Order: sequence, then C-alpha cells, then structure tokens
Amino acid sequence: MKYATQRVALPFFALALALFALQVTFGILAATVYVLPEFLVDYVPFHIMRMSHTNLLIVWLLIGFMGCTYYLLPEEAESEIHSPMIAYVQLAIFAVAGAGALVSYQFGIHEGREFLEQPLWSKILITVSFLMFLYNSSRTLLVGRKTAINSVLMLGLWLAAIFWLFAFYNPGNLGLDKLYWWWIVHIWVEGVWELIMASLLAYLLIKLTGVDREIIEKWLYVIIGLALFSGLLGTGHHYYWIGAPAYWQPIGSIFSTLEVAPFFAMVMFAFYMFWKGRRNHPNKSAMLWTLGSAAVAFFGAGVWGFMHTLSFVNYYTHGTQVTAAHGHLAFYGAYVMMVLAVITYAMPQLRGRQPYNQILNMWSFWVMTSAMCFMTFTLTFAGVVQTHLQRVMGINYMEVQQQLELFYYMRLGAGVFVAIAAVMFLVAIFGPAREELPEGMALTAR
Ligand code: HEM
Ligand code: HEM
Ligand SMILES: [Fe+2]
Repeated sequence: MKYATQRVALPFFALALALFALQVTFGILAATVYVLPEFLVDYVPFHIMRMSHTNLLIVWLLIGFMGCTYYLLPEEAESEIHSPMIAYVQLAIFAVAGAGALVSYQFGIHEGREFLEQPLWSKILITVSFLMFLYNSSRTLLVGRKTAINSVLMLGLWLAAIFWLFAFYNPGNLGLDKLYWWWIVHIWVEGVWELIMASLLAYLLIKLTGVDREIIEKWLYVIIGLALFSGLLGTGHHYYWIGAPAYWQPIGSIFSTLEVAPFFAMVMFAFYMFWKGRRNHPNKSAMLWTLGSAAVAFFGAGVWGFMHTLSFVNYYTHGTQVTAAHGHLAFYGAYVMMVLAVITYAMPQLRGRQPYNQILNMWSFWVMTSAMCFMTFTLTFAGVVQTHLQRVMGINYMEVQQQLELFYYMRLGAGVFVAIAAVMFLVAIFGPAREELPEGMALTAR
C-alpha cells in the first residue's frame, strides 16, 4: 500500500460485509415464507423482511462503493485522502441512518415505495453523509492527478447523488410517483452505477493485468458512452403500463435493448485485457472475481434483462418471477461481485499481507456464483410457468402460486448455499493469515 490514508477503506469494507451477511439472512427468511406462509407472521411480516433485504443490499453496496473509492483514489490521484476524519464521521452517519431505518422497519415504520422505504430523517442523514463523502473525495481528486478512472468514478458518484434527490419528491398521483421513482431505481443501476462499475473494473484490470493505461482508458470511454446513451431513454421499459404515453413502448424497447451493449463491452474488455495482460499478479482470486463480475453482469443484466424488455414480451411477464430472477442475477453480477472483487484485491494490502486464503476465497466464489445462478434458473422456470398459467390461461394468482411450490423450495435451498459461501468469504478475508509482508513492501509497487 503506497498511501497511508488508503487504510480509511478498511472499516467501510468491514461494515459492508457485515451488512451483506444480514442481507442474505433476511433473503432466506423471506424465501422461507414462500414455502411456509405462516413463518414468523406475527413477528416479522413478509413485506418487512423484503424491505430489510433490499435496503440492506443497497446500503452495503453504497458503503462498499465508498470504501472502493477511498481505497483507489489516493493511488489514482497520487494524493492522500483530503480528510480521513470526515470519512470516519460520514461512515458513522451512514451507519446510523441505515441501521436506524432497519430497526424502524421492524416496528412497522416506513414510507413505502420499494427501495425508498427509509423514514424521512434517515433519508436526510443518508444525503448528508453522501455529500460529506463527495466533498472529501472530490477535494482529493481536485488537488491530485486526474485519470479517466477516477474522473469517471467521481462522475458516477455525483450523478448517483443527484438522482437520489428524487427520493424526496413523492407526488400523490401514483402514475407520477412511479415515473420519478424509476429515475432513481432504473437510472442508478442501468445508468450512473454502470459508470462506477466500469471504473472499478478498469482499475482492477490495470492492477491485475498490467495492460497499458491508454488502452484501458479508451475502452472505459466507450463503455460509459454506451451506458449513458442507452440507459437514460431505456427508462422507458418501465413506462409501458403505468399510464405514460404510448410512444414509450417503442422508445423503451429500442433503447433498453441497446443497454445490453455496455455490458457486452465490459465482458469483452475484461477477457481481452486478461488474455493480453503481461503481469502475472499473485492475487488470483481477485482476478477471478473481476472476470466473474463482468461475465455474470452480462448474463444477469444483459441476457436476462433483454429476455423481458421488449414491450410485447413484458406485457406478459411484467412483475412475475421472471423479474425477480433478473433482479437477483443482475445485482449480484454487476455490483455485488464487483465490490467483492475490489475487497479481495485490497484486503491483503490493507492487512499488510501477501494474498492469502486464496483457495477458500475461490471456493466461496464458485459456491456463491453457482448458487446465485441456480436461484436464477429456478425463478426463471417459476416465472415462465407463472406467465403461462396466470397471464395466458388466466388462472388466478394464488392458485398459480401453489403450482410453483417446488421452485420456491429450490430457491430456498440455493439461498442457504449463498449464505454458506458468504461465511466462507468472510473467513477468507478476515480469518487468520500467514506471510506478513516486509515493512513498507506493497504488492502494487512490484
Ligand atoms: C446491473 C444492471 C441491472 C440491475 C441491477 C437490474 C435490476 C432490476 C430489478 C431489481 C428490477 C425489478 C424492479 C422492481 O420492479 O422492483 C428490474 C426490472 C427490469 N429490468 Fe433490470 N436491471 C439491470 C439491467 C437491466 C437491463 C440491461 C435490462 C434490459 C436489457 C433490464 C430490463 C429490465 C426490465 C424490462 C425490468 C422490468 C420487469 C417488469 O416489468 O417486471 N434490466 N431490473
Ligand atoms: C447477494 C445476493 C442477493 C441479491 C443481490 C439480492 C437482490 C434482491 C433484489 C434486488 C430483490 C428485489 C427483487 C424484485 O423486486 O424483483 C430481492 C428480493 C428477494 N430476495 Fe434477494 N438478493 C440476494 C440474495 C438472496 C438470497 C440468498 C435469498 C434467499 C433465498 C433471497 C431471497 C429473496 C426474496 C424471497 C425476495 C423477495 C421476492 C419477492 O418479493 O417475490 N435473496 N433480492
Ligand atoms: Fe430498468
């Protein structure tokens, strides 16, 4: 590790991973309700489990992104973090906001609107913390070296904050509410977060493959151009059935089909750089997560997204288990795996060790990724059967759900394996590690 303030990332990663474990736990509880409908009904009803699961996901990914930023910024900007103290304070504020929201859900206090259920005070604290984070990281960038990687990363983070502000606007008209709700939910994951993902991917590829920065930067510009060009108007694929004008059917269909392009470019980019690379970096598990993220994101977001994005297909599949299948694999591939890749790369250096526990880390990769894929397949089958029985044959909702029981058992089984793999990852990252690096020796310097 070249810069002392990169250490700021450590508590961010630790908290992110703890919340990841909690997210998976709530997922398993919610999946249990699908097979045992009365499970915990008097204590934690399904909708509370579900919002705990999805909120924890978003909160830990954001904390993860912040940790990644604090870790790579000093190296990229060749300058220490402006103020480690601001970083710790803003982390504490974010943790209070996230944990406070989680606790209030358990008492039934929330604002509705999937993903944006946080009570108002929590939303305000999240905003304050994120602005402190942006101030701190932007100050670091302004005095330092500006590269394509850190500039695109900061652009993505600023845009994420700007679109977040729509969380404060909640029109009474349900159609309008949805219209703006997607400006956060869709534009985050299919627009501005892609900038964050692409810049983290580019950073890891430079470090792990040793390919020239100039080549990586060209790819990066192409990817973010494609992401913004397709993703903004691609929002139209959520405007098909909410009372918006009919022109959204062709616009949404065409532009969201183009959204496959940046994910395709990212997976090509990752594997091309991997094959071209000269450097044989000792951290093999970080390389595995990096390539895995690009590949699974392409399938989860690109292939599973395209599957139901054309308006005349979505007419049948809208809001079925097909949506849940896609939501899981896309989030997992693009964002969960990318944050885990950076953590796998950074942790040995943050702990001053050689890359360690790689075998266990790689096992966690394969078990977690296979289990998430299996979960996606079971939900996809469930979704196809559901679409046919409910939307084509017109059988009523609850009767159809009963037909899907077997798939829901298999989803629960897959979830248990994800949890086991998450524990393996935690042990690999925080567990005992041999081979201390000599004082001042950084892997990056070699
Ligand atoms: C990493 C990127 C992506 C993530 C994390 C993601 C995640 C999600 C999630 C969670 C939902 C469910 C939202 C809800 O109704 O609550 C959703 C819906 C949807 N996504 Fe994605 N998505 C991504 C990329 C894409 C792409 C590239 C496409 C198209 C090619 C796509 C097409 C769709 C469609 C059509 C829906 C609406 C499904 C319905 O009508 O029920 N997504 N996505
Ligand atoms: C890191 C891995 C995971 C990610 C990224 C993730 C993501 C998500 C997302 C985005 C949703 C909302 C989906 C939508 O609106 O369509 C969701 C819902 C859900 N997740 Fe997960 N999840 C993960 C792991 C799990 C696990 C391990 C389980 C346990 C089997 C699980 C069970 C559920 C359930 C039951 C729901 C509610 C679905 C519904 O309302 O029908 N998830 N998850
Ligand atoms: Fe979307």
